[in-house]
Amino acid sequence: MCGIFGYVGHRDALKILMDGLKRLEYRGYDSSGVVVQNGHGLVAAKRRGRLDALEAEVRSRPFGGHTGLGHTRWATHGGVSDANAHPHFSCDGKIAVVHNGIIENFAELRKDLERRHRFLSGTDTEVIPHLVEELYEQAEGDILFAVTLAVGRLRGSWAMGVLHADHPNRLSVARVNCPLVLGLGDGENFLASDIPSLLPYTRRVIPLDENELSTIGPEGIQIFDRHLTAKARAPLDIDWTAEAAGKNGHPHFMAQEIDAQPRTVAAEVEAWGRSVPDLRLARDVDRVMVIACGTAWHAGLVAKAALEEMVRIPVEVGLASELRYGDHPFGPRTLAFAISQSGETADTLASVRMARESGSPILALTNVKGCTLAREADHVLYMRAGPETGVAATKSYTSQLVNILFLALHLGRERGTLSPERFEALTREAGFLGTHIGRILRQDPLVRQCARTFQEGYGFMFMGRRYNLATAYEGALKMKEITYLPSEGYGAGEMKHGPLSLVDERMVCVAITPRGRVKEKMISNIQEVRSRGGRIVSVATEGDHAVAEVSDHVFEIPSCEEMFSPILAVIPLQLLAYHRAVGLGRDVDRPRNLAKSVTVE
Ligand code: G6P
Repeated sequence: MCGIFGYVGHRDALKILMDGLKRLEYRGYDSSGVVVQNGHGLVAAKRRGRLDALEAEVRSRPFGGHTGLGHTRWATHGGVSDANAHPHFSCDGKIAVVHNGIIENFAELRKDLERRHRFLSGTDTEVIPHLVEELYEQAEGDILFAVTLAVGRLRGSWAMGVLHADHPNRLSVARVNCPLVLGLGDGENFLASDIPSLLPYTRRVIPLDENELSTIGPEGIQIFDRHLTAKARAPLDIDWTAEAAGKNGHPHFMAQEIDAQPRTVAAEVEAWGRSVPDLRLARDVDRVMVIACGTAWHAGLVAKAALEEMVRIPVEVGLASELRYGDHPFGPRTLAFAISQSGETADTLASVRMARESGSPILALTNVKGCTLAREADHVLYMRAGPETGVAATKSYTSQLVNILFLALHLGRERGTLSPERFEALTREAGFLGTHIGRILRQDPLVRQCARTFQEGYGFMFMGRRYNLATAYEGALKMKEITYLPSEGYGAGEMKHGPLSLVDERMVCVAITPRGRVKEKMISNIQEVRSRGGRIVSVATEGDHAVAEVSDHVFEIPSCEEMFSPILAVIPLQLLAYHRAVGLGRDVDRPRNLAKSVTVE
């Protein structure tokens, strides 16, 4: 949460910073700010609200300068205000800091610093520039050394960029527990909170490791450990394109990302057909513990269903935010399977570290090359979803599901719990998933119409079973995060234990009812809702009249094995949430109070 962007080179820094911040705005949009060293000193602007507010402010002010930092904020400490927007400054105005993370001991540091320094904000971050200012002298004017000394006094998490007025072509950066990526250009270099924001400028990147610091100039980058010993790091070449990170003619990133799924899902299936990743890590374990948050946790529920069916191995699905404070018996015979689109979610990383300490092998499934999770895992499965910008996860979810199902299929075959014939049949069927999604997307006008029908005053609940319990949770999450309407997902069999009391004629119950082991049970559950006046929207297998007869609206998915149905059934639910949100005039890509990458606890 919070995005930072930095530039040192020969171009107009302000332009590049504003462009970078636009790509990082998904990480927080409470306020934003920039600072540039323009040859005479530091010039800055910061504004509460969306980036547009800052843009309007800087348009009328020539900044000049070729070195600078930018920030987009998701507020943690201190309210949403101009004063709390980053950058924050030292008393002499010479040191500017942008920060992503939380300084846990800021209160005690501030109490001491306040005796000598004037604080202008209520943020935890502001202790950093004042600390660096104090230590600058002790560091004999060596700004990186001063930053290192300051970092030694901090507790918590940070990705920070520091700019000193007297060091015009230099940015100092440090990271602990928050992502920070250096981008390598030609006579110019960059820093950013993620890789996609760098893509218009470079595809050669170095993600900083824990506890590393760096000094960035136009001609080069140096990386150091906490004791300022230089470290050699080879850059990664990223194969994502800037186009894949754009809207490509769609009104929102989310629409573009929903639409990309025929291709991204097909790419995942093809990749498993081309070469099977090394699955040794998972071959001999007795149980699996999934570690994930949000949408990735829903993917974990599908992992549980698939691994238990195909591999006959017990699987638990841990919410990382709970797991990290629990007493889960990890150990060498328990595979820790961490699922995270970004690979930077703080709770997921903390749980992974806990699992590692107990000796569990760590398998990661992530979308981002070089992310922290990938660097800390024993083995990584990379998704091929490409950059995902919309805060509501869509294509990364279906990519996660394909990888999970293939993992289950291959492990089942290797461990002898799945016959070669069934394996062949299932992998063959997976080859059609991309085309199937294309067909589902053609129902977009129907879904839009349905979203309009339930425009005013309706609540939503989603129900499913077995493989599609996850789909119910995910459908409800999409709906609530971008429409702000209360919506919940339930196991359909649980309806009688409470949720049925919510049902009346203003309640839309979305029933995920594809053909499979639990379809008949689902129809009974639909009847229970109908007889209490609830409206039914079903996701059903094409031509399934039995479901159509008990539904007000039906979205169809092509006939498929039940294990593949969550990949298809979620598509109309993504569209439903999207159209409902657009109808309400919501900011679909940047829902209030949320951020895509939750890098703080
Ligand atoms: C945030 C995002 C969700 C995402 C979750 C986990 O809440 O808004 O879309 O599912 O974080 O993120 P991860 O990157 O670990 O998959």
